[in-house]
Amino acid sequence: MKFFVDTAEIDQIRELHDLGMVDGVTTNPSLIMKSGRDIKEVTKEICSIVDGPVSAETVALDAEGMIAEGRELAKIADNIAIKVPLTWDGLKACKTLTDEGRMVNVTLCFSANQALLAAKAGATFISPFIGRLDDLNLDGMELIADIRQIYDNYGFETQILAASIRNANHMSEAAKIGADVATAPAAVIKAMANHVLTDKGLDAFLKDWASTGQKIV
Ligand code: E4P
Repeated sequence: MKFFVDTAEIDQIRELHDLGMVDGVTTNPSLIMKSGRDIKEVTKEICSIVDGPVSAETVALDAEGMIAEGRELAKIADNIAIKVPLTWDGLKACKTLTDEGRMVNVTLCFSANQALLAAKAGATFISPFIGRLDDLNLDGMELIADIRQIYDNYGFETQILAASIRNANHMSEAAKIGADVATAPAAVIKAMANHVLTDKGLDAFLKDWASTGQKIV
């Protein structure tokens, strides 16, 4: 499973990238707002660090507007994936932009039917939002499994990009189901390293080591 980092914070992207953990980046209007930076400027900086797909989201509601914004965002760098919402106009924009040979990430997907339409429209990525479904007491992970099954049934090449990931458990569950990509905040990716037994074991080893009075360097 590829890891995308869901942020527009350069320091976080750089830290994970230096560890080889970043296969791509996703941003959205809320993340750009949180960064406090100009969308084109920050996206360009992200693309100078990361070789993989960097999603930049359109904000128009009509297909024509999304296409115009998508073409403009694609000028930032060759690895831009244009993010459009899963609306009827978003699907139209997806078809036009993918026909032009551009990567398109169809976002705000909350149902298997929506994912099926995105694949038919030629999306490069479909972004089902796990956490926001869980917030409503629905099962976000079940949606990932449904989409996996549907795409495999018909050989759709659209990549399943598990999004709205809120905890480390979501990462392993998405990987078990076979999501192609998971996008998560840097803190969630780092939390994947944590285990209470690792901390406990390390504590015991260090106490025993201190009692030997030895040094390695
Ligand atoms: C995905 O591309 C979105 O940017 C993101 O995963 C949304 O996550 P949230 O529901 O935690 O805001």
